Amino acid sequence: MRLFDLKGRTAFVTGAGSGIGQAIAIGLAEAGADVACFDLPNSSGMAATVEGIQSHGRRALVVEGSVTSPDQLVEAVAKTERALGNLEIAVNCAGIANAQAAEELELGRWQQMLDVNLTGVMLSCQAQAGVMLPRGRGSIINIASMSGLIVNRGLLQAHYNTSKAGVIHLTKSLAMEWAHRGLRVNSISPGYTATPMNTRPEVADQVKIFEDTTPMGRMAEVSEMVGPAIFLSSQAASFCTGVDLIVDGGFVCW
Ligand SMILES: NC(=O)c1ccc[n+]([C@@H]2O[C@H](COP(=O)([O-])OP(=O)(O)OC[C@H]3O[C@@H](n4cnc5c(N)ncnc54)[C@H](O)[C@@H]3O)[C@@H](O)[C@H]2O)c1
Repeated sequence: MRLFDLKGRTAFVTGAGSGIGQAIAIGLAEAGADVACFDLPNSSGMAATVEGIQSHGRRALVVEGSVTSPDQLVEAVAKTERALGNLEIAVNCAGIANAQAAEELELGRWQQMLDVNLTGVMLSCQAQAGVMLPRGRGSIINIASMSGLIVNRGLLQAHYNTSKAGVIHLTKSLAMEWAHRGLRVNSISPGYTATPMNTRPEVADQVKIFEDTTPMGRMAEVSEMVGPAIFLSSQAASFCTGVDLIVDGGFVCW
């Protein structure tokens, strides 16, 4: 399908060493893109991401750093363009999650969540748009969460929920600033997805509840985030901007 073809395009994926970011990085390569994979240094899953991209005959570039560092992001984007060509697709998946009752939540923990999940997305978009805007061409996709739309019953994560609500509105705001300058900016809000984030101790007992409270009766596989990311990256979504694409097995309907 030419509409969904990403052949010859260069993509940049944050959080590419694990979970949703890893699946999307490999999926974009399957659709034809060369992919720069950004994650914290020495990410244990990065070798598998690179292998997955190369197995589709595409080029992979590992760029290490933190999404909390504007300099590291700008340098990683520059390195990507030198190695792989003009950046046209960016998918910002890097994120963290943890839980603590709101009345006990330490300022540092609140701040770290917002630094990575919200400011990190803003800084990533700034670095990516910095090269896309002058050329008037690009698609940026931010991975938000259904937790930016609803409050997960039983999960004490006001800081996480707040960060994700921020990502959804940041995405719409950037989409409006850049709509007439050739950039599309959209978000994907996954529901419960089977990734390492959902094997952290706080949520281990909750998996059964996650499955029961999702209308489709199960968590998403990471591979189920790939199609939405290819769609929003591609010509198929040429008139979509400022959209939050909810991929949650029906969760927010209940
Ligand atoms: N798993 C779910 O159920 C679910 C649901 C909704 C949204 N999400 C969101 O999807 C995204 C990916 O989550 P996941 O489940 O794949 O998690 P994951 O923990 O498997 O992957 C997150 C990746 O982000 C990287 N990362 C963390 N902090 C970073 C930083 N400062 N700089 C660079 N990279 C950093 C990690 O090293 C890791 O590779 C997150 O934004 C998460 O909030 C996940």
